[in-house]
Amino acid sequence: CAGQFETLALSGRTVFITAGPTREALDPVRYISNHSSGKMGYALAEAARDAGARVKLITGPVSIAAPERVECIRVESAQQMLDASLTGLSGCDLFIAAAAVADYRPVSIAEHKIKKGSEEIMELHLVKNPDIVATVAAAEDRPYTVGFAAETRDVVSYAQNKLARKKLDLIVANDVSAPGIGFNSDENAVTLVGPDSIETLPQTHKQQLARQLINRIARHFNEYAK
Ligand code: CTP
Ligand code: CA
Repeated sequence: CAGQFETLALSGRTVFITAGPTREALDPVRYISNHSSGKMGYALAEAARDAGARVKLITGPVSIAAPERVECIRVESAQQMLDASLTGLSGCDLFIAAAAVADYRPVSIAEHKIKKGSEEIMELHLVKNPDIVATVAAAEDRPYTVGFAAETRDVVSYAQNKLARKKLDLIVANDVSAPGIGFNSDENAVTLVGPDSIETLPQTHKQQLARQLINRIARHFNEYAK
């Protein structure tokens, strides 16, 4: 209906969202990863789309279907997620990093399947992955950049540290130690931490929370983009 477009919080904006886990290969048949379901990132992609944005969803391997009317880029490793995040970044207005990126990857990927040896203890050598959201936040002509923080204690103070360290505009802080919320569950509760704001959104379904979050994020973003 006429006039509806003007009222949508993100109409005409381009939003990149990272989601899901990354997989860091060890050999042709094995990898290191985590339990991220991708549900929060996918729900945010749908909410941003419904708020009028053009959405690029950069996703690690998950078992949920790609949202309709969202550009979906499938990746495996953190390096691939970084490359996909930097592609076309100059056209991105708002970047939301909901992915659970593996902090480390094996130093090298064995060409052939690693065979079991006689030793009882096996050592793996890992190297730090690039920080995708911090790289985006440091880019020239950067988008408004929102990160997540998965914490098991001192949620707000760790989130404030991450906000400053990664030079982000907002952090969605998640207490992953609380039962029934976060990582692999259908519900979540978060605290939205900005440079001088703290707002708690109570526990609810991820779809509902994603809509509330996109509303709040759009409000902060529109203030910044004025
Ligand atoms: N993140 C990222 N690239 C990485 C690691 C994390 O883009 N290599 C992003 C996540 O998508 C999230 C934010 O950084 O938006 C915070 O992730 P988190 O794991 O909570 O923080 P880390 O900086 O990795 O610190 P730590 O795991 O030690 O708490
Ligand atoms: Ca981490």
